[in-house]
Amino acid sequence: MRTSIEAIRPRGMNAAGLSELAAGLRRRVVGQGEAIAAIVPYVELFESGLSPAGRPAGVFLLLGPTGTGKTRTVEALAETLHGSERNVLRIDCGEFQLEHEVAKLIGAPPGYLGHRETQPMISQQKLNAVASERSGLSIVLLDEIEKAAPSMRRLLLGVLDKAALKLGDNTTVNFERSLIFMTSNLGAREMMVELHDRFGLASALPSRADARTLCRISTGAVRRRFSPEFVNRVDVMLTYQPLDRAATEQILDLQIEALERHIEQRLGAAAFRLEVTRPARDFLIESGTSAEYGARELKRAIHRHLIQPMAKLVLDQAIEAGEVLSIAVGEDGSTLRFESKCRGVRAA
Ligand SMILES: Nc1ncnc2c1ncn2[C@@H]1O[C@H](COP(=O)(O)OP(=O)(O)OP(=O)(O)O)[C@@H](O)[C@H]1O
Ligand SMILES: [Mg+2]
Repeated sequence: MRTSIEAIRPRGMNAAGLSELAAGLRRRVVGQGEAIAAIVPYVELFESGLSPAGRPAGVFLLLGPTGTGKTRTVEALAETLHGSERNVLRIDCGEFQLEHEVAKLIGAPPGYLGHRETQPMISQQKLNAVASERSGLSIVLLDEIEKAAPSMRRLLLGVLDKAALKLGDNTTVNFERSLIFMTSNLGAREMMVELHDRFGLASALPSRADARTLCRISTGAVRRRFSPEFVNRVDVMLTYQPLDRAATEQILDLQIEALERHIEQRLGAAAFRLEVTRPARDFLIESGTSAEYGARELKRAIHRHLIQPMAKLVLDQAIEAGEVLSIAVGEDGSTLRFESKCRGVRAA
């Protein structure tokens, strides 16, 4: 028999690890504090060992416009909790729009044609594999849930309600040690119309969107589309906010830091550093600002104006190892100019 001390000892992360969790998420996901504040308590409950039995450790529905950080939140949680954003069992519901495709998810029953070949996309082994030594919590992402065929949603009801999914071979997968995130763009178009009416040009970022109005639009769209049984099994519905200028600036900083880490990892001894001037940052933000596509447009602008010309300089062996590459705005105002501290101007 276990001693009482053993029985109440938290099983996973310690308190320090957990307080780092909220900070780590806030560093990685910009401007969506409400979502982070709602998610963290479910992780704490799980790590304390007190999550209710017989259901998943938490079920979230992430709503809101495209490119505002829904998927990024799930990746960032995996990164802070397990050390890698790949520790997520990700199911793209767009692949399960037709009734017969659901067999790919759970595998065909024995004796059916293709039983041997159909490895279920979900299995206990796959679920356990995305947990880690640091935490026993498996993160599951069901992307674009509105695209799932009705039969898939019926299967999911059992997962959300009882933490159990019966596979084609009659075995059952247990989701009690899982946090389930579903994402959806339901209502996003209506939200854009609302923002457009209120703030004018669709390309301009709203400075302070009325969060409650957007929330009402997205949850209204969800209730119209999904059955009450489904909606009732969601613990928290979160509506992501469009990104304002300050959030976009912070995301740009994160992207530049990530690019520097990437250069270091890929080029090793030949790596160099970047110094992106303020005007160059403003240029990227202006080219990458879109209420319609969120930070996806910013990523595209970074790719086109920064990464592609830089890759050409690397190919031309025009950058020296260890140097600082300064990036400013070109004279025509429509491109970036790359300047090597050692060799003068390289490209505009
Ligand atoms: N709030 C944010 N904080 C940090 N990075 C962000 C944020 N929003 C978007 N990004 C950046 O933009 C990329 C796209 O965002 P993400 O995949 O999270 O969009 P999404 O909200 O899931 O959109 P969709 O509804 O189209 O799936 C991310 O990989 C990340 O680099
Ligand atoms: Mg997404």
